[in-house]
Amino acid sequence: MIIYGASGHGKVICDIIKCNSSQEKIVFVDDAQKGNYFYNHPVFLTKDYDMHQDQLIIAIGNNLIRRKVASRYINFGQAIHPTAVLSKTVSLSPGTVIMANVSCNADTQIGEHVILNTSCSIDHDCEIHDFAHISPNVSLAGNVKVGTGSHIGIGATVIQGIKIGNFATIGAGTVVINDIPDGATAVGIPAKIIKFNK
Ligand SMILES: CC(C)(COP(=O)(O)OP(=O)(O)OC[C@H]1O[C@@H](n2cnc3c(N)ncnc32)[C@H](O)[C@@H]1OP(=O)(O)O)[C@@H](O)C(=O)NCCC(=O)NCCS
Repeated sequence: MIIYGASGHGKVICDIIKCNSSQEKIVFVDDAQKGNYFYNHPVFLTKDYDMHQDQLIIAIGNNLIRRKVASRYINFGQAIHPTAVLSKTVSLSPGTVIMANVSCNADTQIGEHVILNTSCSIDHDCEIHDFAHISPNVSLAGNVKVGTGSHIGIGATVIQGIKIGNFATIGAGTVVINDIPDGATAVGIPAKIIKFNK
């Protein structure tokens, strides 16, 4: 597996891959190489590495940048921690990362390059669209839609049936009880929109 991004997020993805297969060859690539090794694995400058040798996971937390990088490549892997509990009816897509202790219930759809971060809880019939990031300890009730590229901050809670638009940001600890439009940043309990992203 190739991990794009010699970063903290990249280390977590590396650990997940090793949990599943201790034999898997792992290399990091980075646009600004930081030495020859990172987290005990070789690291190469992206431009010097043949990216077609193996599957790729993009370890970049910024959803917009992750999307930009993804547009340059085609062969993506997944990293799913063995402690994640996923209903057999959950649908997954390439590039997605699912961290430790995530739970994901019936008929939920997870898009491409989504990050389901540590211990988040996603109930039934949710739609998590491409390049979204669901932070640690987020709780999404049933039938929640999270639009493309949106970030749900650490510990946020979203009640059932809510639609969060594309490239929206939900602040840490926020409780969302109304739909959130595209590009909005919403914070607090209950969530209030404080600005729109450019
Ligand atoms: C929502 C967020 C993105 C806003 O960041 P920002 O654009 O830099 O905004 P600011 O810090 O300038 O805050 C703007 C206002 O919103 C308030 N605010 C910011 N985040 C808040 C939050 N999570 N809950 C309640 N109020 C919040 C600030 O107190 C400030 O209020 P004021 O204008 O009355 O002083 C950020 O605070 C946040 O919560 N990020 C999530 C981080 C996260 O979950 N990381 C996990 C990664 S795995």
